[in-house]
Amino acid sequence: MKIVILNGSPRPHGNTAAMVAAYREGAESAGHDVTVFDVCRMRIAGCLACEHCHAKTPRSCVQRDDMQRIYPALDEADMLVLASPVYYHGLSGQLKCAIDRIYAPSYPRRLTKAALILSSGSDCVYDGAIYTYRHSFLGWLHLEDMGIFTAAGTDNKSPQLLERLRMAGAALADPNERNVANLVIRAGEVEVRAPLNNTQAARDLKNRLPLTVTGTDSGIDYCCELKEGTFDEKEKQQGWSDGDVSVADGWFAILHSGQAESQRHRVMVVAHLNKESNERMRALPKNVTFELSLEEPYVCNPTSKSEGVQS
Ligand SMILES: Cc1cc2nc3c(=O)[nH]c(=O)nc-3n(C[C@H](O)[C@H](O)[C@H](O)COP(=O)(O)O)c2cc1C
Repeated sequence: MKIVILNGSPRPHGNTAAMVAAYREGAESAGHDVTVFDVCRMRIAGCLACEHCHAKTPRSCVQRDDMQRIYPALDEADMLVLASPVYYHGLSGQLKCAIDRIYAPSYPRRLTKAALILSSGSDCVYDGAIYTYRHSFLGWLHLEDMGIFTAAGTDNKSPQLLERLRMAGAALADPNERNVANLVIRAGEVEVRAPLNNTQAARDLKNRLPLTVTGTDSGIDYCCELKEGTFDEKEKQQGWSDGDVSVADGWFAILHSGQAESQRHRVMVVAHLNKESNERMRALPKNVTFELSLEEPYVCNPTSKSEGVQS
């Protein structure tokens, strides 16, 4: 799908830019077409409230500035991502100007999805920006929420944060499908996450989380008994890739090895662990208890340290 990102940070190598780059990288790796507009480097004035766009020239703004570059892209886009540093508990002024100018087309023709990316000095300072996002974009424009991603203080630019953004971008579903969240697998101190796919089995598992399962390493997988849920037999695949996570027929399994010899098995894959996460699974002891939980697109990370900027 076509994704437009409006980046409202004036710092080309800042925290918001790093989040945008990671999200973009993930989305492009999944085949999406991403256009980023750095609105702070564009000439975009605030809305004049002249109502020309509604009364005389429908969908067209009288102001001839760089917003004229954004309008056609927005009309073609399936998804809009707003990215901003938190300024005085809200979006940056430059981004707000661009948002207000969406008043002209009012309803971009194809838009169905949205996401919000926020960077701040302190934790839990997002209510103002989230209010705008939820009410004006999810509520007013009826867009589907594909996640709110925040980073405060020392979280900014951390490899974990950027990997999370990359994964969220890569997990974006087709325009007609619903996006699903990350499966978090924890075994003691080890925690890995992988985006759940859109199979019936994954959707069913999502509704049953959190769960605790216990399993033993067979040499190729951790196989854990799990009360039967629902899945579509037709969505099973022949063989697996190392790192696939499967759920069906009363089992939860982390298929960490054995890809080459897996073709004779039919498996119901619900998620895939990247190479590093899979290595961490392989290194676990023979008998393990896994805590499975869901990571919804998240709003605030209470564990991150604060830089103390206007909290
Ligand atoms: C004008 C201004 C206002 C700010 N207001 C807040 C704020 O209200 N709360 C906060 O936690 N951080 C605030 N900050 C800090 C930025 O949100 C934070 O440094 C952010 O990571 C910057 O992102 P960037 O690197 O993309 O520019 C403010 C910074 C500036 C310049």
